[in-house]
Amino acid sequence: MPSSPRSARPAPAPNDPGSAALSDVPADWPALWEQVLAAREGRAVPASRRATLAWRADGGWCIRGPVSARAAALFDLYKPLLDARAARGSPWVVAQMGQSLDGFVATATGDSYYVNGAHSLVHLHRLRALCDAVLVGAGTVAIDNPQLTTRRVPGPNPVRVLLDPEARLDGTSRALRDGQSPTLWLCDARHAARAHERLGRGAPGAEVLPVAGLSTGSDEARGHDAQRLLAALAERGLRVLFVEGGGVTVSRFFAAGALQRLHLSVAPVLVGDGRRGLRVPAREVMAECPRPPARLVVLGDDMLWDLDLAALG
Ligand SMILES: NC(=O)c1ccc[n+]([C@@H]2O[C@H](COP(=O)([O-])OP(=O)(O)OC[C@H]3O[C@@H](n4cnc5c(N)ncnc54)[C@H](OP(=O)(O)O)[C@@H]3O)[C@@H](O)[C@H]2O)c1
Repeated sequence: MPSSPRSARPAPAPNDPGSAALSDVPADWPALWEQVLAAREGRAVPASRRATLAWRADGGWCIRGPVSARAAALFDLYKPLLDARAARGSPWVVAQMGQSLDGFVATATGDSYYVNGAHSLVHLHRLRALCDAVLVGAGTVAIDNPQLTTRRVPGPNPVRVLLDPEARLDGTSRALRDGQSPTLWLCDARHAARAHERLGRGAPGAEVLPVAGLSTGSDEARGHDAQRLLAALAERGLRVLFVEGGGVTVSRFFAAGALQRLHLSVAPVLVGDGRRGLRVPAREVMAECPRPPARLVVLGDDMLWDLDLAALG
């Protein structure tokens, strides 16, 4: 794993999806997305001559009026987030993983630019826009140094949460320095002094959030206490969360039963060996393996599995 975030990053890859045109965004989607954002923010949903979002006590947010099949399929991806916001209940967490066909989220050097295509990246930014906070593990921060903004879509930037129980990051990450959105450096209270020292002044809105008892396990099997983490964020009013990676972090949330929804975006690429994507506790009997209700949505060349983990109970 490279110690310097950008030093090992090669020049833009030939598969850089940055400028690719999105061929599967229907003409009626931008207006519907504006309505989704209004619903997210509790604003009056702008009326439309075509489809309009409406709240139903028995069904949550739904579409009234004519809408293309593709826009309806995209809306179905985001409806659970809108409904979770409206419920104002306990923390609600969606995670995503962009994986290769053979189950990796990056090569062995940590290079993940790019597993998925442009459609999946835009989807990622839409998820960010609909959540109170986006969370990534320290490994992702150290390797990708991500901005975690919504620059590919209209919509607000979420609060950024860097999950670093042992406070191993060096404090120079872009999210702690660029001031684009508030950023919480989440660590175990035992290591908060080190994080404070490394952060120094930081950018406006960047702060250390110490959580007592966040670190769990031994050196061989480190982890985090998901419930303490969620409670600490809920105290800040951050309740609808997006766990964006990497594989270790998403897998730990899954094992803790802390995910309501999982979006697995499978790309037609073979990595051979590298950073593993989702890993779930092993079972011996196939009939006992979790098989959540699932929907498949095509995102360009990628196949997005939308898994309803809340239904597993
Ligand atoms: N394709 C995708 O959707 C996607 C999304 C996000 C990231 N990624 C890729 O996933 C990779 C990172 O994922 P991951 O599963 O390895 O980790 P991760 O889930 O981002 O972070 C958790 C892991 O990072 C380790 N870690 C903690 N502090 C660190 C530091 N300062 N430097 C380096 N590692 C540290 C942790 O070690 P402990 O166990 O000791 O705590 C833990 O193993 C990157 O290559 C990134 O590009 C891909």
